[in-house]
Amino acid sequence: MIAHRRDVHIVGTGSYVPTRVLTNRDLEAMVDTSDEWIRTRTGIRERRISEPGQPASSLAHQAALSALESAGITGADLDLIIVGTVTGDRVFPSTACTLQNLLGAKGAYAFDISAACSGFLYGLSVAENQVASGVAGTILVIGVETLSKIVDWTDRNTCVLFGDAAGAVVIRSTGGEGGILATRLHSDGTLVHLLEMPGGGSLRPPSHETVDQRLHCIRMSGNDVFKYAVRAMESVASETLEAAGHAPEDLALLVPHQANLRIIEATAKRLHVPMSKVFVNLDRYGNTSAASIPLALDEARRTGRIKPGDLVEMVTFGGGFTWAASVVRF
Ligand code: ACO
Repeated sequence: MIAHRRDVHIVGTGSYVPTRVLTNRDLEAMVDTSDEWIRTRTGIRERRISEPGQPASSLAHQAALSALESAGITGADLDLIIVGTVTGDRVFPSTACTLQNLLGAKGAYAFDISAACSGFLYGLSVAENQVASGVAGTILVIGVETLSKIVDWTDRNTCVLFGDAAGAVVIRSTGGEGGILATRLHSDGTLVHLLEMPGGGSLRPPSHETVDQRLHCIRMSGNDVFKYAVRAMESVASETLEAAGHAPEDLALLVPHQANLRIIEATAKRLHVPMSKVFVNLDRYGNTSAASIPLALDEARRTGRIKPGDLVEMVTFGGGFTWAASVVRF
């Protein structure tokens, strides 16, 4: 039996975005849309697009190196690598195993988590429990997506929303106060059809037909996602804050999944958190799914929006549906 749970701290963060920028103006030349429509409906101005031949593991590698440096360790110090992604290098083996090789993390075990935009917080939760129970000492948790590779670039309903990125954190026990205080995860599998890539798995294996029908691209019921996202994010954010013994006014910063500015504003309003305490960078990156929270967290730390001692809540919602939140004292 485990005598007591160890503290779990985020001791390093890192991120990486591809260099190629795709602006709303660029999209105007590709589909029937406008910069004004995209900005007012989503808050997005531009997003980053990976190069052909630049897979998720490549983005994850850069983010991982930056997180390892920020934690003052190397790949050899890692006991576990968890990658949250729905756009990994291959269906199998895992992108985490590819990354383990790239990092020379010989002593680590490695696996992927598929929870769409909640992939990072799901991964963080699994990692937290591995450290807390003493099974692993130092863990790298990554959220990475190359959504540009599964977007239907002829569908204006979806192609304006997404971007590519990677974000990473290193967690371990420090013996100090604070760290990850509470995490809550949820899923609702009755709603799988509202946000999916229908083809390519065992349900509809790849064929000429699945390619012709564009079943290897993202399909989404935008209005339904919007509605569920706002309700679920508010509810899980409140539940997790309460579990951590805190109220919204205690938060120094809310770091929400960067899907749509209107979803973020509606969630913040329901939580009674002023937008001055909400981190937003989706104007520059769009929705990067599993990468969005660790990318935002890293930017917030590096730009001084998160300082030691700050209470921070991360909250997300995505395909599945899945949703989650985590409250951390830095
Ligand atoms: N440019 C111009 N017009 C467009 C575009 C576009 N890119 N996309 C859709 N339209 C049109 C539609 O065709 C529709 O036209 P119609 O009235 O002639 O049929 C009109 O704009 C309104 O469409 P709505 O879907 O009602 O627009 P809405 O204001 O709901 O915004 C949006 C759509 C932005 C997708 C919104 O529903 C949303 O953000 N949903 C959440 C989706 C999301 O973030 N998904 C990401 C994955 S899940 C997650 O990360 C949480």
